[in-house]
Amino acid sequence: MTDKIDGKAFAAQLCERLAQEVAALKAERGVTPCIAVVLVGEDPASQVYVRNKIARCAEVGIESREHRLTADTSQEALLELLATLNGDNTVHGILVQLPLPAQIDETAVIDAISPAKDVDGFHLQNAGALAVNQRRMVPCTPLGSLMLLEDRLGDLSGLHAVVVGRSNIVGKPMAQLLLGANCTVTIAHSRTRDLAAVCRQADILVAAVGRPRMIQGDWIKPGATVIDVGINRIEEDGKKRLVGDVDYAAAQGVAAAITPVPGGVGPMTIACLLHNTVTAAKNAMPA
Ligand code: GUN
Repeated sequence: MTDKIDGKAFAAQLCERLAQEVAALKAERGVTPCIAVVLVGEDPASQVYVRNKIARCAEVGIESREHRLTADTSQEALLELLATLNGDNTVHGILVQLPLPAQIDETAVIDAISPAKDVDGFHLQNAGALAVNQRRMVPCTPLGSLMLLEDRLGDLSGLHAVVVGRSNIVGKPMAQLLLGANCTVTIAHSRTRDLAAVCRQADILVAAVGRPRMIQGDWIKPGATVIDVGINRIEEDGKKRLVGDVDYAAAQGVAAAITPVPGGVGPMTIACLLHNTVTAAKNAMPA
């Protein structure tokens, strides 16, 4: 029997607590947490993500200000907008949806966001803090994944965690968080030799590669806990489907528990974005 890790329900509870906190900030301090969401171009997946993020903000009482820029926006224009948002003390969080069009250097954009407002946790200062086991703004997907793991497993000490994927957004910060939780951590990636054998060692398997159903049932150690970060849009039997990086059906009966796609990590990412925005608003207030 494989349990489904219900990220949707966990995220809903987290959002309920955040809504109470936001209401208290408004009533007691007169502050409404506010996030600026910047979308450049018309990438369809990004549009869906941004729409969802803004809708969840409204549900917990966070103000969101959407900045939609055309696909041909220059890097200079985007950096100018970020400078304005950095200087606006009514804006507590800034999120620039990735990927960006080719003419814009992603690193330059991330560098230009004030670290205190970097609710994605991608800025060098926030990534560096995490690397020395300090938590400032922690990237949302890894943070949400860790919450699900600790909720299910309690103390993670000594468990072998294998993170498949080494991106700055998910793989690397996920590995840092698991290390901070005293796991033995392996980071595997596209060049890893005998990836299946490496995965089979995992008590905790985190898949963040962006390849539909790449992780097979026999790559999973019996009794492992599996976190599937993948959100892959595929067409199958003439239908559009959303599938993870793990073959969910094949994991049944092997894994002890697995996050579904959709309804697993995705809602946690958004809940953690709201959590980071509330934290940024609280950090910006005088003591
Ligand atoms: N694109 C895909 N995932 C993310 C994310 O977590 N944050 C931002 N800003 N863009 C993304």
